[in-house]
Amino acid sequence: MSSNQIQTVCLIGGGGFIGSHLIDRLLEENNYKLFCLDISSSKLNHCIDHKNLTYIKADISDIEDINSFIERSDCVISLVAICNPVHYNTIPLKVINVGFLQHLELVQTCTKMKKWFIHFSTSEIYGKTLSYYLRSQADKNNSEYFLLKEDSTPLILGSIQAQRWSYASAKQLLERIIYAYHFEQGLEYTIIRPFNFIGPRMDYLPSIDGGGLPRVMACFMDALLFDKALKLVDGGKNKRCFTYIKDAVDAIALILQNPDKSKNEIFNIGNPNNEISIEDLAQKMKQIYKEFGAMIGNAASRIESVSAEDFYGKGYEDSDRRVPDITKAQKLLNWEPKTDIETTLQKTIRYYVSKYKNDNKSNESS
Ligand code: UGA
Repeated sequence: MSSNQIQTVCLIGGGGFIGSHLIDRLLEENNYKLFCLDISSSKLNHCIDHKNLTYIKADISDIEDINSFIERSDCVISLVAICNPVHYNTIPLKVINVGFLQHLELVQTCTKMKKWFIHFSTSEIYGKTLSYYLRSQADKNNSEYFLLKEDSTPLILGSIQAQRWSYASAKQLLERIIYAYHFEQGLEYTIIRPFNFIGPRMDYLPSIDGGGLPRVMACFMDALLFDKALKLVDGGKNKRCFTYIKDAVDAIALILQNPDKSKNEIFNIGNPNNEISIEDLAQKMKQIYKEFGAMIGNAASRIESVSAEDFYGKGYEDSDRRVPDITKAQKLLNWEPKTDIETTLQKTIRYYVSKYKNDNKSNESS
């Protein structure tokens, strides 16, 4: 497939946060015809009538529907997941079912129909770093022990009772199955491991939308907007590399444009320069929010620590650090994440402020 031919891409679960941005990115170019299958189209309202996009209301378990669209596509992208940590130790059966079992048939179908299968896995698959287990500070800070490399870093998950790892285990087994189908039956695949993508249209806010605990960005946003405490789980010492969604979808577009380089590879997609502890994230978000404060009122939210068990329930453990080695994406795809942490947070916070403050105003006035 050359990059200037029209490609038909089937996005399963394409109506969510990542999928909606990816669709925007691919529609900017004129050489994609997109099928988006999802249970909801609420994040696609702005582009649903685009001539190159067909939205189909379907769940990953609607196999017949899905297969008929796979058959008409060159490539299948799967984005379906239950990816909020609060669910991993509370509804692990559903998490494993969606993360592994429901995808198994999809992998088999793509193998049988000879379709390129692009799968969104997770950075969570790495689990804890080797440096977490080391005693000396010098060793802990040696990048050899914390930098995560796609094809050589060991995947270190906790005990079976630590159900936090149910999601990562399901995703790991699926990666192994994909690789095995490639190895034994010639499936062409690309695996993407996202590192904390954030931006507009991300998670819901519990105070407005309900729905339980979202991921950290939305938890803190909810606290700031509704003057609640920002809660640091076990003191917020763990670190993440937050990656701006527009940088992330640029990488996926490059994967699609460069099949010769991206097929049968696993890619870390994340911004290693944006590492921040959760404690510092809370401080930074509070400070940025204050800068918007003149417009929308005060931002006096407290920051307080909470135990992981009180916050998430029994069986929660955590990844200590997640710094991606992105050498492969840099070399093969010529991809470079461009948005620094400050700008990433500003853009994301601005979105939440305008969406939720405006929604509030319209709710109040109606
Ligand atoms: C989650 C998913 O498990 C990954 O699969 C997914 O790739 C990743 O999000 C992502 O967004 O890319 P995680 O980073 O642990 O992983 O999810 P968050 O809920 O955003 O938590 C990040 C950190 O903040 C954790 O250390 C958590 O304990 C902490 N946290 C969360 C708080 O301190 N306070 C909160 O209110 C919420």
